[in-house]
Amino acid sequence: MPKAFVTGHPIKHSRSPLIHGHWLKEYGLDGSYERIDVAPVDFGEFLRGFAARGFAGGNVTIPHKEAAFLGVDRRTARAERVKAVNTLWIEDGVLWGDNTDVAGFMAHLDASLGTGWEQNVDTALVIGAGGAARAVVAGLQDRALKRIFVTNRTLAKAEDLVRDLRPGSAVGLETSAWEALGRVIPHARLIVNTTSLGMAGQPPLALDLARAPRDAAVADIVYVPLETPLLAAAKAEGLKTVDGLGMLLHQAVPGFERWFGVRPEVTPELRALILADIEGRK
Ligand code: ATR
Repeated sequence: MPKAFVTGHPIKHSRSPLIHGHWLKEYGLDGSYERIDVAPVDFGEFLRGFAARGFAGGNVTIPHKEAAFLGVDRRTARAERVKAVNTLWIEDGVLWGDNTDVAGFMAHLDASLGTGWEQNVDTALVIGAGGAARAVVAGLQDRALKRIFVTNRTLAKAEDLVRDLRPGSAVGLETSAWEALGRVIPHARLIVNTTSLGMAGQPPLALDLARAPRDAAVADIVYVPLETPLLAAAKAEGLKTVDGLGMLLHQAVPGFERWFGVRPEVTPELRALILADIEGRK
């Protein structure tokens, strides 16, 4: 029976067991997926020892994504670019690490806006410069955009991101000062929030969306609440919106396939299940 895990610290709020548990049941698979709380000092030992404990692999979340990146034997090209690992598996005795947030974000974007959406988008704006921003930029770089602006409260972090991700990029990557957002928004046909602003308990991300192109799309990676103040403002302006829940669901797909051998589907039923959990815990 294949066993998988999600590890973090703390880990009790992770919704990954609900997602993978739903798929195990749906596909009638005899496997398990459990939460394992591992303190940062114990993470190295956990990484080296999980296979001996019978695990095929697992997910890694805050605060272990960088330690996982440093600790694996081999990384996918995407993990290499993002400098963070969220999915682990063993292949021929080798410990592999991938970053599935990249594919997760892009799969949800394609599902929400329709494939080929980039034909109408030459400029994208990514707000934030943390790990999630790196995954979003890495995904967008694979598409035929002209340029991506990255802005962040702390500009130096946006500059680091651009310096790391610019080599080999066919898409222009530029930073924009937070204060200069008003000049970028009129050109941005895709705007993505990757900061924690707008999350329950946090102040909203206030953007002047009246200045955005009328055919722009606004995406948020925050999913509690599902309709963030930013997405509500985008809707009020008649803009297309992309919520944050899809990325959470789609990033789980590659790991499940590695550990359990079936490529699972993100269905309306799964979405409703996770949404009910989010609503219930509010
Ligand atoms: P993650 O890995 O989820 O991206 P992170 O690395 O902690 O998390 O990044 C959080 C992002 O939210 C950063 O871009 C952060 O901006 P700073 O680099 O300036 O800290 C942004 N952020 C968090 N709180 C913010 C706030 N009150 N105003 C503006 N940006 C904020």
